[in-house]
Amino acid sequence: MRLRKKPWVGQALEKYNDFVLRPTDEIYQGQWQAIFGRKAPLHVELGTGKGRFICGMAEQNRHINFIGIEAQQDVLYYAAQKVAEKQLSNVRLLVFDINNVMNLFAPGEVNRFYINFCDPWPKARHDKRRLTHHRFLDMYRQLLVPGGDIHFKTDNEALFAFSLEEFSNYKWQLEQISYDLHASDFADNVMTEYEIKFSTKGGPIYRCEAKPPTII
Ligand SMILES: C[S@@+](CC[C@H](N)C(=O)[O-])C[C@H]1O[C@@H](n2cnc3c(N)ncnc32)[C@H](O)[C@@H]1O
Repeated sequence: MRLRKKPWVGQALEKYNDFVLRPTDEIYQGQWQAIFGRKAPLHVELGTGKGRFICGMAEQNRHINFIGIEAQQDVLYYAAQKVAEKQLSNVRLLVFDINNVMNLFAPGEVNRFYINFCDPWPKARHDKRRLTHHRFLDMYRQLLVPGGDIHFKTDNEALFAFSLEEFSNYKWQLEQISYDLHASDFADNVMTEYEIKFSTKGGPIYRCEAKPPTII
């Protein structure tokens, strides 16, 4: 998601300091229940963008603590506005690079990761940057609670095929695979900004859920 640079955003985001965080070290690992001030399942969206999905989900699921991770503060600003408008006390937004996700959570602290319309990195030599590359799957596996899972959506057929292969090769259990989400009977789909944009053009949305292997 590319936006024109907004020099004023850094300052504008300050008014959302109670739910927009900028983690720089490892003090957050194992602390999320204390930060939210309650014990609740923790769902994490990777690459939150402008926040339509996380806000919709948080509104419908008040009993869940949600974290949205986004590298670009200029984009996250729009998510912060939505959180404030809807007064969602169960959301925290992080200006953070997903590559460092192991520094954010303790092993077994996360109940679910959402990956929605992540960058497809189409060139083969960039495959390690795809958020469903096994390099990332290994990190998610360590951070998920037993029984935790990933919910993945994309409009990109090649990325979806790659992801299904990565999940299978690394013994993740695949469920709810859909090659045309909007034509399926899947209920309660909350659309992201990208999903609205791509599906308006008529293309299918691909979706699956995956559970990591249990290592004995
Ligand atoms: C294609 S957009 C999709 C946004 C949103 N999920 C949606 O569906 O509307 C991908 C988003 O992931 C963010 N992103 C990509 N790599 C990231 C990283 N390493 N750490 C944090 N955010 C990242 C980008 O800044 C961008 O906002």
